[in-house]
Amino acid sequence: MSVRDNVLNKFREHFKAEPTLLARAPGRVNLIGEHTDYNDGFVLPAAIDRAVYVAARPRADWMITLVSVDFKAHASFDVDHLDDPDLPPWSKYPRGALWWLLQEGYDVPGFDAVIGGNIPLGSGLSSSAAVEVVMLELGLMMTGYADMPQVDKALAGVEVEHQFIGMPCGVMDQMASAMGVPGHALLIDCRSLETQEVPMPDGVSIVIMDTAKRRGLVDSEYALRREQCEIASERLGVAALRDATIPQLEGAKNRLEDVLYRRARHIITENTRVLATVAALRTGKLAEAGQLLRQSHISLRDDYQVSCTELDVISEIANAQPGCYGARMTGAGFGGCAVALVENSAVEAFVQAVVPAYTARTGLKPELYVTQACAGSGVEKL
Ligand code: GLA
Repeated sequence: MSVRDNVLNKFREHFKAEPTLLARAPGRVNLIGEHTDYNDGFVLPAAIDRAVYVAARPRADWMITLVSVDFKAHASFDVDHLDDPDLPPWSKYPRGALWWLLQEGYDVPGFDAVIGGNIPLGSGLSSSAAVEVVMLELGLMMTGYADMPQVDKALAGVEVEHQFIGMPCGVMDQMASAMGVPGHALLIDCRSLETQEVPMPDGVSIVIMDTAKRRGLVDSEYALRREQCEIASERLGVAALRDATIPQLEGAKNRLEDVLYRRARHIITENTRVLATVAALRTGKLAEAGQLLRQSHISLRDDYQVSCTELDVISEIANAQPGCYGARMTGAGFGGCAVALVENSAVEAFVQAVVPAYTARTGLKPELYVTQACAGSGVEKL
């Protein structure tokens, strides 16, 4: 059964009623442009064919009951107690979206809802951004504002992360989830927030490789990287590292600790790689795009230091397979997923070779998914 139907059925089973609204928000995979979003730079993610759904029915009172298919649990609370610390942790992301709506003055009613999806949790495919965006879609529909621009829904999701969750993320994940375009990656300028659709060339598949190593350290290391980038940009005298160049960085080398120099070098070179990848994809130069992905991994591993053994091993194995243009870690790092661009006709052999080779070296069982670039979030009346 599809995830969508499963969520609808669970609603009927649990609430003995028909849901009236259904919202969907996809996860994302980032092709290239890692840790550049909070430096006002460029990213190239795609929304994927894995998503979170929420089926709901407004109520006449102010109570909210949320059933989670994935956590096999439910939580009930009223709109005035969204930040009650005794509520279960899994409900924090959906509550955060409702909290944002209320503090912005949207008149969120009580409702019954079932939430569920197939984005693996904690694997770097932005399941949390998808939960925020899906609840914003639902809440905005219930209050009559479903036509809010997708970019503003995404920015609302980012505010949930910053203010309710306490994660100083950039804008990439929520923008990809809210604004994805079928068959296209999305070039996002994280300063102007302008987006450009970049068609995925025929003949190439996006393969996501989940290392089965759950992300550790990510919260503290992420905040630390962000801080280091801010210090480096101050020392370079630029508004953000997006504005710095390699000659400028080389000129300032003796004024920067090695670690700051390396963080900045990653961001500056990664921004260049994103734009070069877009040009390569637009002209069908897949080998060139793949080479840029490989360089991105090396830069994330050595300069930005957010990779880990598992991500290095799976990328190395993937990069050695026939028909693989290029592979690299994707997302924040420290575990989770890598991504590969693979020639369609080689995908089956690729999957069959990577899985046992990775298990032999790490003892872990990876999950590989061939994915499509999909549409961003939305909500429908049933
Ligand atoms: C996480 C954050 C994003 C981005 C990536 C790294 O997914 O939520 O904003 O910074 O890490 O590219």
